[in-house]
Amino acid sequence: MKCSAFFAVHATLGSLQLASAMPHQVRADLDSCLNAARLSTDFPGSSGYASASLAFNRRFHYSPAAIVFPASDNDVAVAVTCANSVNLPVSARSGGHSYAAFGLGGHDGSLIVDLSKMKTIKVNSDQTATVQTGNRLGDIALTLFNSGGRAMPHGTCPEVGVGGHSGCGGFGLDSRLWGLLLDQALSAKVVLSNGTLVTASSSENSDLFWAIRGAAPSFGIVTEYRYKTYPAPPSNIIFTYSYTVSPTTASSIFSAYQDFAKASAPPTLGLQASIGTPKSGNKVSIALTGVFYGSKADFNTAINPLLAKVPQPQSTNIKTYGWLDSLQVLGGQGLNTTIIPDGSDTFFAKSLMVPQETPMTQASIKSFFDYIGNQGASSDTSWFVLADLFGGQGSAVSAVPKDATAYAQRNGLINFQMYASSSNNAPPFPSDGLAFVNNMFTSITSKMPSDWKYGAYACYTDPTLSASEWQKRYYGDHYARLVSIHQKYAPNSVFRYPQAIGS
Ligand SMILES: Cc1cc2nc3c(=O)[nH]c(=O)nc-3n(C[C@H](O)[C@H](O)[C@H](O)COP(=O)(O)OP(=O)(O)OC[C@H]3O[C@@H](n4cnc5c(N)ncnc54)[C@H](O)[C@@H]3O)c2cc1C
Ligand SMILES: *[C@@H]1O[C@H](CO)[C@@H](O)[C@H](O)[C@H]1NC(C)=O
Ligand SMILES: *[C@@H]1O[C@H](CO)[C@@H](O)[C@H](O)[C@H]1NC(C)=O
Repeated sequence: MKCSAFFAVHATLGSLQLASAMPHQVRADLDSCLNAARLSTDFPGSSGYASASLAFNRRFHYSPAAIVFPASDNDVAVAVTCANSVNLPVSARSGGHSYAAFGLGGHDGSLIVDLSKMKTIKVNSDQTATVQTGNRLGDIALTLFNSGGRAMPHGTCPEVGVGGHSGCGGFGLDSRLWGLLLDQALSAKVVLSNGTLVTASSSENSDLFWAIRGAAPSFGIVTEYRYKTYPAPPSNIIFTYSYTVSPTTASSIFSAYQDFAKASAPPTLGLQASIGTPKSGNKVSIALTGVFYGSKADFNTAINPLLAKVPQPQSTNIKTYGWLDSLQVLGGQGLNTTIIPDGSDTFFAKSLMVPQETPMTQASIKSFFDYIGNQGASSDTSWFVLADLFGGQGSAVSAVPKDATAYAQRNGLINFQMYASSSNNAPPFPSDGLAFVNNMFTSITSKMPSDWKYGAYACYTDPTLSASEWQKRYYGDHYARLVSIHQKYAPNSVFRYPQAIGS
């Protein structure tokens, strides 16, 4: 699917298309079911509908059948039952930050269950946290810390929703220390395709619990999670070592990063390579950056083996923060999402998960940096590449047994995210933007053996992948088990979207 072309079609047809495409009887039956249940709903044509239909990624524009705003688990169940009665697809929306607008269904005509009214967060006496899925990550972090100095691992952007994030992974710089967000789940309340509310945990509906930890959107709407929490570390050292160098030097720096990542980085070290280009010349900018959770002395011991293998940085920035301040610095904004309104972007991104057993060869590293050096400065997109360390010695992400959850990338060492936006973050997305990112991706894969078993991080949803590609890259050999659990819980699933299990 060429999504830039897709956008153009939808931009001109707008929401009128849906009204004519949906049979009158379905429209009438859906509306009367939702109205009878007194659910707060934006129908097409109502005053809130246009803004409630906007995706975070403005490369996409979809027209839902309606958007409901439940206030309770029961409301969610009723909404799903209404959609089921007219056989309309349903998608939940938590923070709306899906890369492919799957929180709007990823196509026209879904019933959207927007969870934004379900924002309870509670730290229990056993230090677990009960979190409704309408919450955003920043508000969760604030509330946990203000309830006895607690913390959880998750991504850095405060506006991302916990519902989507926890369903596909949930990676932050603290994940090597504590794991992914989905690894913290102890139980979940889930509304199934037939409108039944069930609990999923290791002792109740354990197969469903397995499936929602990696592929939640296909199995139901999680209304609430109970998570493990941790004492927030008092000392959080944010560090950046920056270079602007030739592609050849950047390759050797990256190579040292990969070696260190695999063999020496302790789990208290969150680390990434942040890669870009200056606006002119055949140069590459690369920064080795991250957070160390611990003392200055232990940080020096941890980072020195890496520093010994790379040139003297052109600039260095190291500063120690308390927990909430460190999250604000990483997120680049305040954590309270009521105060800071949500943004948007117009972008395409791809993930490449480099496996621990077969890391990148020198030839593939060189090919990637040559591509960046040659093409990066002249791209009409605004782009970045982040190569996040997921695995390595002692990483809590890789420590979870491979088959313990549906998340299938436990052997991932480094997760590349190749991300290109339109230059002003608004539509249209440049017509050569997809090719720019795709060629960056193949600059690596084309230099690796043809049977290289790389993966992709499902949270960095790539709607251009074919069915066989996303099934294999996101879910690997867990896909067959996901299909069989899906048949049990959702034989005629209403949770249909472009990359749903079994679709
Ligand atoms: C700016 C930005 C920064 C990001 N940073 C990170 C990061 O640091 N680390 C990281 O790991 N990821 C990161 N991501 C990716 C992010 O984890 C995913 O996009 C995630 O799916 C977003 O969740 P959401 O609830 O905001 O999205 P939504 O669009 O609301 O949902 C995403 C998907 O999950 C489904 N879903 C939502 N709620 C539920 C629910 N309660 N039950 C079942 N299914 C549900 C939706 O139907 C949709 O298919 C980032 C994304 C963006 C846009
Ligand atoms: C965010 O700010 C609002 C308005 O001041 C406040 O009501 C709310 O409790 C704050 N949220 C969190 C999670 O602290
Ligand atoms: C809904 O589906 C679940 C799981 O398949 C099943 O246990 C339950 O009985 C079903 N509920 C109804 C009302 O059919």
